[in-house]
Amino acid sequence: MRDATPEQDQTIYLADYAPVPVTVTHVDLQVRLDPLATRVSSRLTCIRQGPGDMVLNGELLKLRAVRLDGEELSPDAYSLTDTTLTILNAPDSFLLETEVEIAPQTNKALSGLYMSNGMYCTQCEAEGFRRITYMLDRPDVMATYDVQIDADLPVMLSNGDETGHGHWRDPWPKPTYLFALVAGDLIATHDSFTTMDGRDVALNVWVRPGDEGRTAYALDSLKRSMAWDEKVYGRVYDLSVFNIVAVDDFNMGAMENKGLNIFNSKYVLASPETATDADFANIERIVAHEYFHNWTGNRITCRDWFQLCLKEGLTVFRDQQFSQDARGFATQRIGDVLNLRARQFREDAGPLAHPVRPESFVEINNFYTATIYEKGAELIGMLRTLVGAEGYAAGCALYFERHDGQACTIEDWLACFEAATGRDLTQFKLWYTQAGTPVVKVTEHFNDGTYRIDLEQVIPDTPGQANKKPMPIPLAFGLLAQDGSEVVGTQIHELTSETDHLSFDLDAKPVLSILRGFSAPVILDFVQPDAERLTLLAHDTDPFNRWEAGRALAKDRLMRAVTDDADFDAPWLDAMTTLATDTDADPAFRALALALPSEDDLAQSLHNADVVPDPDRIYAVRRAAQLAMAEHLRDDLSDLRESNATPGSYDPKAEDAGKRALSATLLRLQTMLDGGKAARAAYDVANNMTDRMAAFACLLDAGDETVAHSFEQDWQDDRLVMDKWFMAQVAHAAPRDAVGVADRLTRHRDFDASNPNRFRSLIAGLTGGNPAGFHNPDGTGYEFLASWLLHLDKSNPQTSARLSTAFDGWTRYDADRQAMMKAQLERILGTTGLSRDLSEMVIRMLKA
Ligand code: BES
Ligand code: ZN
Repeated sequence: MRDATPEQDQTIYLADYAPVPVTVTHVDLQVRLDPLATRVSSRLTCIRQGPGDMVLNGELLKLRAVRLDGEELSPDAYSLTDTTLTILNAPDSFLLETEVEIAPQTNKALSGLYMSNGMYCTQCEAEGFRRITYMLDRPDVMATYDVQIDADLPVMLSNGDETGHGHWRDPWPKPTYLFALVAGDLIATHDSFTTMDGRDVALNVWVRPGDEGRTAYALDSLKRSMAWDEKVYGRVYDLSVFNIVAVDDFNMGAMENKGLNIFNSKYVLASPETATDADFANIERIVAHEYFHNWTGNRITCRDWFQLCLKEGLTVFRDQQFSQDARGFATQRIGDVLNLRARQFREDAGPLAHPVRPESFVEINNFYTATIYEKGAELIGMLRTLVGAEGYAAGCALYFERHDGQACTIEDWLACFEAATGRDLTQFKLWYTQAGTPVVKVTEHFNDGTYRIDLEQVIPDTPGQANKKPMPIPLAFGLLAQDGSEVVGTQIHELTSETDHLSFDLDAKPVLSILRGFSAPVILDFVQPDAERLTLLAHDTDPFNRWEAGRALAKDRLMRAVTDDADFDAPWLDAMTTLATDTDADPAFRALALALPSEDDLAQSLHNADVVPDPDRIYAVRRAAQLAMAEHLRDDLSDLRESNATPGSYDPKAEDAGKRALSATLLRLQTMLDGGKAARAAYDVANNMTDRMAAFACLLDAGDETVAHSFEQDWQDDRLVMDKWFMAQVAHAAPRDAVGVADRLTRHRDFDASNPNRFRSLIAGLTGGNPAGFHNPDGTGYEFLASWLLHLDKSNPQTSARLSTAFDGWTRYDADRQAMMKAQLERILGTTGLSRDLSEMVIRMLKA
């Protein structure tokens, strides 16, 4: 843990970047494992690159010895602080040896070397290696590694290839953040993959004994990812073994350590009985993501942490492409855009807004954000649209060729596309440096056979940034006739100036389908008549915009119901019924089209329209809309569910998952009408966790008082299923009961705040899953969150800081709620011993 004073003046600036004076080219580690006294002996091959002292990072280490070229260093040849070891007057090349002692058992921050269920494991990104030994812990120092693990344990793994039991050599130079070590009693499922150049790679998924029956889907996803990266990007794996380890205590989803990926067990283990379709999709996506990092992140890494989007944005884009190929373009794209809007647009509109490449930070862990990841991925997608698929392929090929083995910047990346395509990307770079979601205002005019579209872009001010420059916005669009036939097929218009227009000679006013495929991460300000939206919903050739038209219709109605008490009109309900019953359309698409905008989405949109969102009202209006839909569809509901059943044994394939998603949507509507009768029947016959969870949620919504207990009886020994149990009860409690339910569950014998999955399930069940409950007008939701953040911050600052973002929308709300949220933020900030992580977040949020 950190010392007691809040460290607020530790801002790090991109502009201050300087290469190291002395670098390390090889690391030789010997790790003697012990829960309370692990010995780490390190031998660093050091080479001078320029003038200056060598400053190594180290935290929470007990230094036992320092030697330079075999000689014990005298006290005046080095200096030591809580976080650094400085070697004074180092020679031009030398061997630096240190011995330190650490205590993995007491490491509850889950950064560095720690223990989870008796197993040793590491998490080094971003700055965890410094908790293992003294080292230049920054990504532009790349070294080869030899690792020797000493312990009496059956399985001892590190990066690279094994040269003897517990001895590993990684021939590929890598930064510290990609180092990993795992040791314990683990069991592997083995498989193999033959690369396109004919080499055999051993694949292993390592889990705790008892979990080995749940690894098949992860392995299958891994093999498909390897084949996909060869086929689509020409990237081939470069070691003879690829290990994946599942760990129960993990702050994030997964980590791409070279040749030894470490995963949160939630994103590896799956069986039909215990994992939902969403879990299967997440596993597929995250396995792919971490595997793809082998080239985009590991072989070519980041020069400094400001360049994080260089690996994360690009790798998210790649995993999204992979999932589109595996699961269908439209449904994947719609899901990704929903996620972008829910998380990134929200972030970009509030006090935590920052550019895709930030210019400063206090704690880098706070910058693994939706903006770096999801907006970062959108920038790659726009770049691809702007230079075309071939230009994109040529730019990527040049990037891999030119920068293999290097630590790079966004400038390096863009220069490859300029060189490969001849296009000037100077203006495009603004997307990396300007925060805020651009608003594109669209107005139409039709006169005497001329159809004209006026366009205007406005980029809002964000913390520390005002008066922004126009950016290049690729707008994919098409035109339909009023009868729905296509008049102009998809074209790309690049909006590069603040205002612009397009004209067409046409006999009649067409229906505009703009931002097809969501071609840019912008907010459209475009008022389109209902009749035209209904035409798009029925006929657009672009499936994304078909969905988007339905979304706009629904959002309009819900917002007008909130502000003007408007009714849900028959034409809209008819359109929803048509969608629900349209057997020609893909069930997954129908499920997405029938889903209403979330409560938070509505709060965000109301705020953008200068209406103060009332969470209770939003909750009530959404329920009323669902009831109206249910009543309108009443006679069809049970037949429709019947016809989308997936009889027989469970298969996670997208086609069946789509049917289950539609069926779950329909069950929710049925529950509005029958108080839970159909849900009870569905719960009792469910043979997989997807159907079971869907029915469980409906029963909780309906106020069933026995189902939580029986679910617990059935699943109490399964930690991943019990995470769902904790979350669902909070998320589906009536708003007035939610804080009470959450509070009661924190006293359940299986609630363990030190396990991030369990903690997150309960807290996010409230803050994300039950907005009206979190925003309870009595303020208890805010107090509950603040108290638990303070509690967790003592042991795990990274996770407490991440969950604090639930407060980031605080200025949207009414004066009473604002005052209560502000008071809780101030209470957090006034607490002594606060971590740098949480204090940075709270300070930024209070600046709003
Ligand atoms: N490199 C990250 C893991 C990471 C994040 C380490 C933050 C340290 C701090 C990894 O590649 C990653 O991005 N994981 C994501 C999932 C992914 C599919 C977007 C995660 O863990 O949430
Ligand atoms: Zn990543």
